[in-house]
Amino acid sequence: MTEQLLSIHELTKSIGSIMPVKGISFELKRGGCTALLGPNGAGKTTTLRMLAGLIPPTRGEIRYGSGDGHTDSWRHRIGYLPQYPKFYSWMSGMEYLSFSAKLSGLSGKEALRRSREVIEMVGLQQAAKRRISGYSGGMKQRLGIAQALVHEPELIMLDEPVSALDPIGRREVMDLLDRLRGEVTVLFSTHVLHDAEEICDDMILMVDGEIAEKGALSELRTKYRQPVLSIDVEPGEREVAWLDSLANRPYVQEIELGKRGAKLMVTDMGVARAALIQELADAEIQLLRFEAGTSTLEDMFMKVVGS
Ligand SMILES: Nc1ncnc2c1ncn2[C@@H]1O[C@H](COP(=O)(O)OP(=O)(O)O)[C@@H](O)[C@H]1O
Ligand SMILES: [Mg+2]
Repeated sequence: MTEQLLSIHELTKSIGSIMPVKGISFELKRGGCTALLGPNGAGKTTTLRMLAGLIPPTRGEIRYGSGDGHTDSWRHRIGYLPQYPKFYSWMSGMEYLSFSAKLSGLSGKEALRRSREVIEMVGLQQAAKRRISGYSGGMKQRLGIAQALVHEPELIMLDEPVSALDPIGRREVMDLLDRLRGEVTVLFSTHVLHDAEEICDDMILMVDGEIAEKGALSELRTKYRQPVLSIDVEPGEREVAWLDSLANRPYVQEIELGKRGAKLMVTDMGVARAALIQELADAEIQLLRFEAGTSTLEDMFMKVVGS
């Protein structure tokens, strides 16, 4: 069994009359990469700030390791990159890192040694002596990740590390995260499912302060792979009435009706296809498109997030 690095139970945050995080529970495996996925306003930043010990939870429990270590004693084992990091842009990358390292308690010598190590890890050694003000977005974000790594934490938490980047910067940071996998436990937030799927093993989907779904991505992909039939028809009266009637077929689990078409989640593709083709012919429906496929995690994500 993989060792658990962090488990949270019924974590809740109230701010005045609003409740950005409503009693969420999950675990992180040591060495894993987990995406905290969710649309804007889902409560991702609030959750990460509680885990990083920056704001106190209103209710609930955060447990690090297998013991009952509290956040405070664990601060030095966590690296955190905020969603909108601020840099002293007049400093060089190297100065900024050794400054951060000393802030987290390393001695001058140790700070310098670790700064050199992490600046190389994130591929900024060529730019180490340049001022941060001249860095690209991707470089700044990599420097931010270096800062989160400088005191050799067991867990790094990155809040939307690629959301503000152009495609090149995004690529740089995603490649870096992929390299860090396995060396350190990673929890990063994103509003893009594709980011989660690209580098993570697990995901936690948050919507409106609650966990809508969580688990291993490979298992979730299987769970949401369902046969789907898409049908488009000519916009005739008979056609529209026929589409409307489809909901009550025994093999239709779920239906999404559009203006001139329907998307059917079906229990058995073979049965559904045969029955519907027969109906189409019998009722002389003017068919435009008839397509058999499968639903994806993306469909689930859009449904949960879009509503
Ligand atoms: N300090 C605060 N004061 C008022 N509202 C807040 C505060 N922090 C968060 N919120 C609200 O809580 C919700 C969740 O915010 P946040 O955790 O930043 O979500 P996310 O990072 O997923 O976009 C949002 O509606 C946000 O406006
Ligand atoms: Mg946020």
